[in-house]
Amino acid sequence: MSERPDPAHSLAVSPPASRPLAVVTGATGGIGREVVALLVGSGYRVTILARGRAASPGVSSGGPAWGEHVTTVSCDLARVESIAQAAADIAAGDDPVMLLVHCAGVISPGQGDGLCGDGVAAQVAVNLTAPILLTSRLLARMPRGGHVVFVNSMAGVMPLQGSGVYAATKFGLRGYALSLALDVRPRGIRVSSVFPGAVDTPMLRREMAEGGSVLNFVSPPAAPADVARRIVAVCRRPRREVFLPPLDGLFANLCLLLPGVLRLSLPLLTRSGRRGYRRFLKRNGPHG
Ligand SMILES: NC(=O)c1ccc[n+]([C@@H]2O[C@H](COP(=O)([O-])OP(=O)(O)OC[C@H]3O[C@@H](n4cnc5c(N)ncnc54)[C@H](OP(=O)(O)O)[C@@H]3O)[C@@H](O)[C@H]2O)c1
Repeated sequence: MSERPDPAHSLAVSPPASRPLAVVTGATGGIGREVVALLVGSGYRVTILARGRAASPGVSSGGPAWGEHVTTVSCDLARVESIAQAAADIAAGDDPVMLLVHCAGVISPGQGDGLCGDGVAAQVAVNLTAPILLTSRLLARMPRGGHVVFVNSMAGVMPLQGSGVYAATKFGLRGYALSLALDVRPRGIRVSSVFPGAVDTPMLRREMAEGGSVLNFVSPPAAPADVARRIVAVCRRPRREVFLPPLDGLFANLCLLLPGVLRLSLPLLTRSGRRGYRRFLKRNGPHG
């Protein structure tokens, strides 16, 4: 990976003199912390939006690799006013935002009946409302050559039995990203979405502890560092949509086109997912 971001990516009329600024959410998570380290390594200065202890001044939640090129802005993405304040804090810094990576996310598995109101609200707020509002607030700070990257999920193109609300937020996020791409194209701003399958992070372990779908284990969950590398590759060379692994993306899109394919293959996928989950538990213990 080169010292500076790909020049083809930095199309701004007035490119920033020093390291270009990237804003990243979800930077304390399994995938997000790897993304931040890679962005720093490829020449960005990164502002992370974090809540709780990670948001305290002087706390470096990502380890020593982050160093001087990472600053933290306090933000609870579940709260609209907190997002507005964080966007204002970033705007006060006066630097153009060249890259905005939405990586925060939450999942609370639950079937169609008996859903918990708080769980539904939190998933909609963090997975859908927050990326929309934050993008909208920061677009004014983004010059030509800017790039918005959404970390979506295979659940954004494929029904996820038992996690319908999460899937709904991710399907919605896909719709927003595709529409935003049309809105900002005349301004020379690019929009990308990355759709990973299961990734071995705290989110997956929490999801399974709360009764998540064994379909997460049809293939072994990816390593967060591998997924982060693919996300940062997209940051360097914008593409509208990237599915990880690509074959799963093809299958998911085929199921959208022909829902009968999913109906027919579901029993086989479920059996294979159960076997995969048993293997995962054997290697990692109950819920990792
Ligand atoms: N893991 C998977 O299997 C998988 C698969 C496909 C897609 N994805 C997507 O990948 C992205 C990253 O997931 P991950 O697996 O890395 O999850 P993770 O390890 O659980 O990290 C989630 C991140 O989101 C942040 N976050 C959650 N609620 C927040 C709030 N209210 N305010 C501010 N930050 C908040 C967390 O911050 P705290 O540290 O403060 O909690 C953390 O940094 C998500 O968008 C997820 O949907 C994950």
